[in-house]
Amino acid sequence: MLSSHKEAIKLYTNKMALKNQPIGIFDSGVGGLTVANAIKQALPGESLIYFGDTAHLPYGDKSAEAIIGYSSKIADFLVGQNAKVVLIACNSASASAYEHLKEIHGDRVIVMDVIDPVVDFIGMKNYSKIGVIGTKRTIESATYAKKLNRINPDLDVVSLPTPLLVPMIEEGFIFDDISNAILRAYLTTPKLNGIEALILGCTHYPIIRNQINKIFNFEVDILDTAGIVSSILKKRLEERDLLNDTGKAKYSFYVSDYTPFFEKIARMFFDGDILLEKSDIWS
Ligand code: DGL
Repeated sequence: MLSSHKEAIKLYTNKMALKNQPIGIFDSGVGGLTVANAIKQALPGESLIYFGDTAHLPYGDKSAEAIIGYSSKIADFLVGQNAKVVLIACNSASASAYEHLKEIHGDRVIVMDVIDPVVDFIGMKNYSKIGVIGTKRTIESATYAKKLNRINPDLDVVSLPTPLLVPMIEEGFIFDDISNAILRAYLTTPKLNGIEALILGCTHYPIIRNQINKIFNFEVDILDTAGIVSSILKKRLEERDLLNDTGKAKYSFYVSDYTPFFEKIARMFFDGDILLEKSDIWS
C-alpha cells in the first residue's frame, strides 16, 4: 500500500476515534461552568469533561508563570482523557497560557481560548467606547485592549480590574446587598461613563450578569464569553467534521479541591445530572 494511502487511512481512523471524544474545558473554579453550560445548549450531543482548579483559585492574582504551570498540567490531564478540544474557559489563563498550550497540544486537538472569539465578535460591531472588567492578571496583561486596538485603533477601551468579584462569587455572595455594594463601588467609576458595551472579561461574571445589567440601567451591551465561544466552537467542530455522532452525551466534572459551592453551581447548570470527582493531578 502507498504510504500516502496509509497516511490517509490513519488520519481517517484518528478522526473517527476523535469525533466521539469529549470536549475538555477548564477554569480555576465555577466560572468556566458558564461556558460549559452554553456549550451544552449549543451542542447537546457533545460529552464534556470539566476541570475546576479550585485548589489554586483565584488565578487572577497569580503570576503568568504560575498560571501557565497550572494550565499545562490540566491540559495534559484533559488530553490524557482523550479530549478532542482543550477549551481554556478562563480569561486569566487565556491571557497567560493560550499560546503555550497551542504550541504543546495544537497539532493533535483543538485548543481554544475565550478572548479571541470575543475580540473577533467586537471587530464586527461599530462601538466607539467599550469597557472591560476582569481579574488583575487579565487586565494587567492588557490582552483585550491590545487585540481590540489591533483590529480597530480608534476604539476607546477602558480596562478595569475587579479582583473582589471572583472570591465574592465563589463564596456565594450573589444577588444580595454585599455583591450589590461591591459592584456599585467598581462600576460607577466615571472612567466607564459613555461606554456602549462592557466585556465581562472573566467567565465567573455571567453568574452576576443581571446585577451588572441593572447598574447600567440596561443601557449598555453586556458581552459575556459563553455564548460567543460556544457558537465559534460549534462552527469549528462542524468544519472539521468532528461532531459527536453517537447521540450520547456524558458530563464529567473534576475539581482539584472539593467545594460545596462548585457542586451546587454544577448541579444548577447541569440539572443535577453530574459526576463530580476530586482529582489531584499534582501528586
Ligand atoms: N474565571 C476566571 C477568569 O475568567 C477566574 C479567574 C480567577 O480564578 O481569578 O479569569
